[in-house]
Amino acid sequence: MAPIQNPRIIFNSIPEGYPIPGETLVVDTSESIDPDTAPLGGGALLKIICISVDPYLRGRMREPHIPSYFPAFPLHKPIHNFAVARVLRSENPDVKVGQHLYGWLDFTHYQIVDAEGLKKLRVLPEGTGVPWSAYVGAAGMPGQTAYYGWKVLEPKKGETIYISTAAGPVGSAVVQLAKAAGLKVIASAGQEGKLQFLRELGADVVFNYKTANLEEILKEHAPIDIYWDHVGGKTLDAVLPRMNLHGRILIVGHVSSYNSKPDPVYNLDQFLALRIRMYGFLVTDHEEQYGKEFYDVVPGKIARGELKYTETVVHSLEEAPQLILDVQQGNNAGKAVVVLEDN
Ligand SMILES: NC(=O)c1ccc[n+]([C@@H]2O[C@H](COP(=O)([O-])OP(=O)(O)OC[C@H]3O[C@@H](n4cnc5c(N)ncnc54)[C@H](OP(=O)(O)O)[C@@H]3O)[C@@H](O)[C@H]2O)c1
Repeated sequence: MAPIQNPRIIFNSIPEGYPIPGETLVVDTSESIDPDTAPLGGGALLKIICISVDPYLRGRMREPHIPSYFPAFPLHKPIHNFAVARVLRSENPDVKVGQHLYGWLDFTHYQIVDAEGLKKLRVLPEGTGVPWSAYVGAAGMPGQTAYYGWKVLEPKKGETIYISTAAGPVGSAVVQLAKAAGLKVIASAGQEGKLQFLRELGADVVFNYKTANLEEILKEHAPIDIYWDHVGGKTLDAVLPRMNLHGRILIVGHVSSYNSKPDPVYNLDQFLALRIRMYGFLVTDHEEQYGKEFYDVVPGKIARGELKYTETVVHSLEEAPQLILDVQQGNNAGKAVVVLEDN
C-alpha cells in the first residue's frame, strides 16, 4: 500500500478561557504512514476506532510548570485521551492482530505503540455486544468514576443524594446506581433533553440549574446526605448549608471553573457545624482495587440494557476540536466521543 495521510490533533497554544478550535487545537495533516510496511520496532500498529472527549482535557491545556493530577500536554505535540484501537500488525507476543485495546492513545488514525506502551493498554473482550464507543464511556473511565466513587461513599438505602452535571456519562451512571440502591435522587443539568433523560432514569427531583432557583430546590428537599460534586463554585456553596449532619461530599470535578477563575465558596463554617466529610476523588487511584470487578460487572449490565447511556458522536478527527469546546460549554449530551470506525 502507498503511504496514506495520518492526521493528528496538535496542542498548538495555551488558551486563556475556552479552547479555540483551529487555534488552541489544530488538525495537522503533514504526516503519512504506510500501514503495511511502517517499522514497528517490537511494538504494534494500532488503528484508532474511537477516542473519548472528556472535560478534564481542558486542564491539560496549561503551562507545563503548573502542577495538577495529570501532566500538561506538551505544546506542538498530538493530544491523547482514552481510546479503543484495533491491532493491525504486531511484533509483540502479548498483542495479537485483530485484538481491541483500551487506554491512552493519540488523537490520530494510526499509531505505532512500543512494547512498554502496549503494557499500559487493556485487551478488551470480543463479542460482548457492547459497542466499542461504550468502552470509553459507561464501560470506560467515566463509568469507572461512578463505580469507584460509589464504593468510596458507601451510600445507604433511604439517603438523599444530589448529583450536579447529572446527565453526563459519570452523573447518569451515578443516578442509576443511586436509584438501584434505594436513594432519593436530586439531579441537575443544563438542557431540557438532558432533564428528560434523567427523568427516564428515574431521578426523583430533576431541574435545570440555569433556570431554576437552586437554593429553593435544595431547601425543599434538604437535608442532603451526599453531594456528588461535578461543578464546584456557587453550586457547592449553595449545597453546604443544606447538608445533613455528618453528610458526605465527593469532589469529582469543578467544571464551573475549568475555563475561568473559580467562584468563592463562603459557607465553609458548615463543615464544622454539620461535621461534613469531603473527599477529593481521582478515578485512577482506585483502578487497582476495583478495576477487575468493574470489568466483570459493568459491560454485562450494558449488554443487557440494565445500564443506560447517551452519546454525542462525531465521525472525523477534524470535528474533535469543536467537540472538545462543546463539552466545556455544555453543548454535548452524554458521552462525547470521536468515532473513526463504526462497529
Ligand atoms: N475525578 C475524576 O477522576 C473524574 C473522572 C471523570 C470525570 N470527572 C469530572 O466529572 C464531571 C463530569 O464528567 P463527565 O465526563 O460526565 O462530563 P460531561 O457531562 O461530558 O461534562 C460536561 C458537562 O459539564 C456541564 N457544564 C459545563 N459547564 C458548566 C458550568 N459552568 N456549570 C455546571 N455545569 C457545567 C455541561 O452539562 P450541563 O448542560 O448539565 O451544564 C457539560 O455538558 C466533570 O467535572 C469531570 O471533569 C472527574
